[in-house]
Amino acid sequence: METIEIKRNGETVSRVVFARTVSDFAETVRACGQVFMVYDMAVERYASGLEALCPNIAGKYAIEHVSEECKTMETVLDICRWLLGEGADRKSAVLAVGGGIVSDMAGFAASVYKRGIRALYLPTTLLSQMDASIGGKTGVNLDSYKNIVGTFRQPEYTFVCPEVLGTLPQRIFADGLAEMLKTFIIDNGPEGDRVERMMSAVEAMYADEAAGAGFDKDMPDRESGSRVRMISDDFGILVAEAASVKAGIVSRDELESGERRKLNLGHTFAHAIEYCANSGSAAAVSGKSGNCTGRQCTVSHGEAVAIGLSVAGHLSESLGIARKGTAGRIDRCLDICGLPQECPFPFAMLEEAMCKDKKSEGGKVHFILVGDIGDVTERLLDVPEVMKVLSGQGRDPKGSVQGGI
Ligand SMILES: NC(=O)c1ccc[n+]([C@@H]2O[C@H](COP(=O)([O-])OP(=O)(O)OC[C@H]3O[C@@H](n4cnc5c(N)ncnc54)[C@H](O)[C@@H]3O)[C@@H](O)[C@H]2O)c1
Repeated sequence: METIEIKRNGETVSRVVFARTVSDFAETVRACGQVFMVYDMAVERYASGLEALCPNIAGKYAIEHVSEECKTMETVLDICRWLLGEGADRKSAVLAVGGGIVSDMAGFAASVYKRGIRALYLPTTLLSQMDASIGGKTGVNLDSYKNIVGTFRQPEYTFVCPEVLGTLPQRIFADGLAEMLKTFIIDNGPEGDRVERMMSAVEAMYADEAAGAGFDKDMPDRESGSRVRMISDDFGILVAEAASVKAGIVSRDELESGERRKLNLGHTFAHAIEYCANSGSAAAVSGKSGNCTGRQCTVSHGEAVAIGLSVAGHLSESLGIARKGTAGRIDRCLDICGLPQECPFPFAMLEEAMCKDKKSEGGKVHFILVGDIGDVTERLLDVPEVMKVLSGQGRDPKGSVQGGI
C-alpha cells in the first residue's frame, strides 16, 4: 500500500494510505484501539464490510440523508452526546465513512470531544479522497454560511481506495473532478502534463459508456441514474497525485498562512455562489450553471467550484495576469468534465456574500488568480473593484433577480 505522510516540523502528523479495496485497510484500523464509526447511510455496505473485519469498532452512528442542511453544530453535538453515551474515552478514535460532509462533521466532533480524540477517515467520494479528508480542516455551516465554524485537526489516517467510488452517482463524481482540476491548475506536475492526462482519462471513461464500462457525463439528476462503474488505473494514479499535491501544500503550510491559500482557487466565488443558491433569497438565472431553472437553484459544492474556476480564469485574463487563452483552456476542461462554467447569479449579488467570507479583510479578499495552467498567484483585491471588472466582461447573467442578499 502506498502512503503519503503529512508533516509538521518534520514529524509525521497524518498518513494518507492508498489501496484497492476497503478490506485492505482492516489491519491498520484493527491497530487503532477502540474505534467509533460515524457513517453515511448511503455507504452502509462499506461501513459494514469494514466493521465485520474490525472487532475493535465499538459502535456505529448513522447519518441518513447526508446534505449541507445537516452539516450543523446540532449534528456535531449529537455525535458528541452519542460518543459520551457509548463511553468513548480520550484514547478512542472516530472513524468517518462518507464524503466531505461526514468527515467535516465527524472530524469536528473528534477535535472537540474531551478536548480532542483521534480521527480516521475513509472518504467515499472523489472530492473527499483528494481534498476534504486531507489537510485537517473540519467544520460546519451556520445560517447559510459555509464551514464558518470549525477547527484544524489532522486525521491520524485517511484511507483512499477506488472500490468505494463504484456506487457514486455520476454527478457527485463530477464534483470531485472540479477539485481535481483545481489541484492540477495549481500544480501541473513535474512534466506539466497533469491537466492533459486528467482530460484524457476523463474522456476515456466517458467514452467507455457506450461499452457499458464508464458513465454518462450528462446525467440530469444528482441522485439517480448513472453510477461510476469503472475507475481506470490512469485515473487512480491521478487521484493519488492530487492527494499528494494537497498533502505537500498542507505539510508546508498547515494553518493556511501562506501557500495553502492557493487551494482556495475558485473557492471565494464558489462559496458566494453557494450562499446565494442556498440562502433562498435570490432567483437564479437559468443557463448551464448547476441545476438552475428560473427561480430555483441548487448548486453543489463541486459545481460552484467549477464556476469559480471559470470566473477566476476570466478575471485573471481581464487583470492581465493570465496568459492569453488560459480562461478558454479552463472552460474547455470543465466542459470535458461535464461541469458548468457560467455563474447563475448576476455578479453584483455575490458581492455581499464575498465580503462576509471568513477570509475577507475589511472588504478586501485574497483572490487566487491564474497566470497559466500550473502557475497561480495570490492578490489582495477590493471586492467591489473585482465585481466591476467581472461585470464589464459581458459574462454577467442579466436575468431577473428577485430579492437580495
Ligand atoms: N475539510 C476540507 O478541507 C474540505 C475540502 C473540500 C470540501 N469540503 C466539504 O466537503 C463537502 C462535500 O463533500 P463531498 O462532495 O465529498 O460529498 P458529500 O459528503 O456532500 O456527499 C454527497 C452525496 O454523495 C453520497 N455519497 C457519498 N459517498 C457515496 C458513495 N460512495 N456511493 C454513493 N453515494 C455516496 C452522500 O450520501 C451524499 O448524498 C462540503 O460540505 C465541503 O464544504 C471540505
